[in-house]
Amino acid sequence: MKGISKAFPGVRALADVHLEIAKGEVLALIGENGAGKSTLVKILGGVHQPDSGIIDIDGKRVTIDSVTAADRHGIGFVHQELNILDNLDVAGNVFLGREPRKFGLINRRQIYADTQPYLEMLGLDVDPSTPLHMLSIGQQQMVEIAKALSKDARIIIMDEPTSSLTLKETESLLRVIKGLKERGIAIIYISHRLGEVKECCDRVVALRDGENAGGLAKEDITHDAMVSLMVGRDLGDFYRHEECRVGQEAYFQVKDLVTSMYPGKKISFDVGAGEILGFAGLVGAGRSEMAQAVFGVDRALAGKLVLDGSEIPLNSTRSVIRNGIFLAPEDRKSSGIILDFSIQHNISLASLDAFSTFGLIRHEAERAAADEQINALNVKAPSADSIVGNLSGGNQQKVVLGKWLAMSPKVLIFDEPTRGIDVGAKREIYNLMDALAKKGVAIIVISSDMEEVLGISDRIAVMHEGAIAGMLSKEQFSEEAVMHLAVGGKATAA
Ligand SMILES: Nc1ncnc2c1ncn2[C@@H]1O[C@H](COP(=O)(O)OP(=O)(O)OP(=O)(O)O)[C@@H](O)[C@H]1O
Ligand SMILES: [Mg+2]
Repeated sequence: MKGISKAFPGVRALADVHLEIAKGEVLALIGENGAGKSTLVKILGGVHQPDSGIIDIDGKRVTIDSVTAADRHGIGFVHQELNILDNLDVAGNVFLGREPRKFGLINRRQIYADTQPYLEMLGLDVDPSTPLHMLSIGQQQMVEIAKALSKDARIIIMDEPTSSLTLKETESLLRVIKGLKERGIAIIYISHRLGEVKECCDRVVALRDGENAGGLAKEDITHDAMVSLMVGRDLGDFYRHEECRVGQEAYFQVKDLVTSMYPGKKISFDVGAGEILGFAGLVGAGRSEMAQAVFGVDRALAGKLVLDGSEIPLNSTRSVIRNGIFLAPEDRKSSGIILDFSIQHNISLASLDAFSTFGLIRHEAERAAADEQINALNVKAPSADSIVGNLSGGNQQKVVLGKWLAMSPKVLIFDEPTRGIDVGAKREIYNLMDALAKKGVAIIVISSDMEEVLGISDRIAVMHEGAIAGMLSKEQFSEEAVMHLAVGGKATAA
């Protein structure tokens, strides 16, 4: 790709960008949120048309003016947000639009037989007739890769393929990538997880503000080198939270909480004002369910919530919110945000009461609050009126956080707050949490990012199968200690 430029209304997404990739090469494309990574690969995938620039494949000039054209040129795409048809089965998805037919009808036997070898190649142990919605996100991603392989893709684009995968699924994806590489397939790998990039990529290309910002050869790929390419400066000390449990010890208490997912288990813990309590555990350990039960969106079967000495009724999101307890949920698509709304409207949504007098919304106040969060979180957007659906993935996540930060919380529960967020923005979010803690907010952070949970927490609760398997104090923090408890090991005495 040479001299690629692309503008959206009010945004220069790409300016004169160059990208090349060799057969059998795994190329990492890195950059901060909004740097233009997805836009660049969407141009290669025929989703967007460039304003200028050319694309050559195998020495020939090509025009990729549609997704079908990209298919024809052997370009496969595993998107940042999966777009799989849930109601079809595995084989139906792989051969969508190219189903083998007999007398005009889809030949079921044939399509299953044709799909099988691709599943085996990827080590995906499911029947081709399994409906898609029965598969985990990781498995659905493998189906997308199978689809690309079945179309004989020469180039496969993976846009943040691991952002919703478990540790184990990530490992098997990295294994699959090695296999694809051996078959001579070129892979463009976009990720914010720099550890993975170091592990599986042959070369790194960085974008910054829509422009090429340099690259790294295999032997030069290090965490720090990648960060300074992306950010253009050193970030210095990443995690700065100093322990600070101000106020009473047990400011917010959860007592004998029973969630409907694990009816046989009770969860009890407390958080101090100004404390950051991390929640670690494997996917499925019940951390999100705990948070949703506290917040009253999932029905708790039993339990007690106490804030600053007074009890708050269980299973009432209304009273939980009224008492200043907020949850920034994990899945921004389903509960955090309205994609068709502007940034301003999303940020003010949960706190409209604060911006209205006698039922009328005070627009300047609403605007000021939105601008404040946009600045604080460094959201990259033309203005507060920009539609959230048009922002890059990481910037959407920042809007989710901004919405809750605008509400003067007492207790904040973050569920995977930095998923899909770049290093610079992560640091901004950690600084914000630190500042909130200093003001006496009790903070609960559920995170699957080991480095993060060890870096920002004052204590860590490790969950296993619906219960807290152990509570680690700062002196006990280590990756091994967290893993040991997360897989069901016994806690050792503090
Ligand atoms: N359809 C669109 N309409 C308007 N602006 C867009 C559209 N798609 C992308 N943009 C803008 O183009 C810029 C580049 O976005 P892009 O999605 O390519 O970033 P990215 O590098 O993939 O970021 P992330 O790491 O957050 O996914 C951003 O400022 C984004 O808001
Ligand atoms: Mg992107």
